[in-house]
Amino acid sequence: MLSIPVIAIDGPSASGKGTVAQLVAEQLGFHYLDSGAIYRLTALAAKNKGVSWADESAVASVAQYLDVVFEGARIILAGSDVTEAIRSEEIGSGASKIAALPQVRLALLARQQAFSMQPGLVADGRDMASVVFPSAVLKVFLTASASARAERRYKQLIGRGETADLAVITADLEARDARDRERIVAPLAQAQDALLLDTTELDIQSAVRQVLTWWRQKIE
Ligand code: CDP
Ligand code: CDP
Repeated sequence: MLSIPVIAIDGPSASGKGTVAQLVAEQLGFHYLDSGAIYRLTALAAKNKGVSWADESAVASVAQYLDVVFEGARIILAGSDVTEAIRSEEIGSGASKIAALPQVRLALLARQQAFSMQPGLVADGRDMASVVFPSAVLKVFLTASASARAERRYKQLIGRGETADLAVITADLEARDARDRERIVAPLAQAQDALLLDTTELDIQSAVRQVLTWWRQKIE
């Protein structure tokens, strides 16, 4: 059987992983996995069911039986379109809390790995290179300074017509970064065999070009 090529892109919040990963997937005609969306969906499903984000076994059960359908760019949870609802900072913060629970990560592992299909997959998250797709052909650790990331998130929220406060966003981002880096299971870190891409001074198209160049070098 032919092995399925995977590009794993990990990094902190608002480093540009999602944007870059989607564009790389489009260029190569590959599938795309937004693994953060899976954690966000679990946080929202738990909230909707009245399950506390601190209750590990109950959240793991929610994760195991997540009733989710991906319809193109839309995400349907238990029959409701939650595409926008999972993007709030509250749900992002909840996602990072439940993501620290080992039973929850385990419950979501196979669901993420199922996205790996021919002709290939681009997956973004925190542990794509280290845990979910350790044999990925190309591993990239995408990052940017905390202030550049806070600024990007701020512009993104304003662009969506939401009210946003840069100081609150910066504090939330720092708290989330710390939680993601310091947790015991699958902490956010650059995998030993991952290539570092700092986008603080790099626009999206240049970042996409760099990933595609590395990809061609890997498969040549
Ligand atoms: O997926 P992640 O949270 O890492 O970030 P994203 O949602 O892809 O990017 C956050 C925002 O930063 C988006 O609005 C991107 O358009 C923007 N961005 C940017 O301005 N410059 C980059 N080099 C990368 C992303
Ligand atoms: O868009 P942003 O980068 O802010 O977050 P996200 O990728 O949507 O992920 C939301 C939260 O889920 C993160 O803060 C992580 O704690 C968690 N997550 C994770 O632990 N492992 C992943 N592979 C993806 C997300």
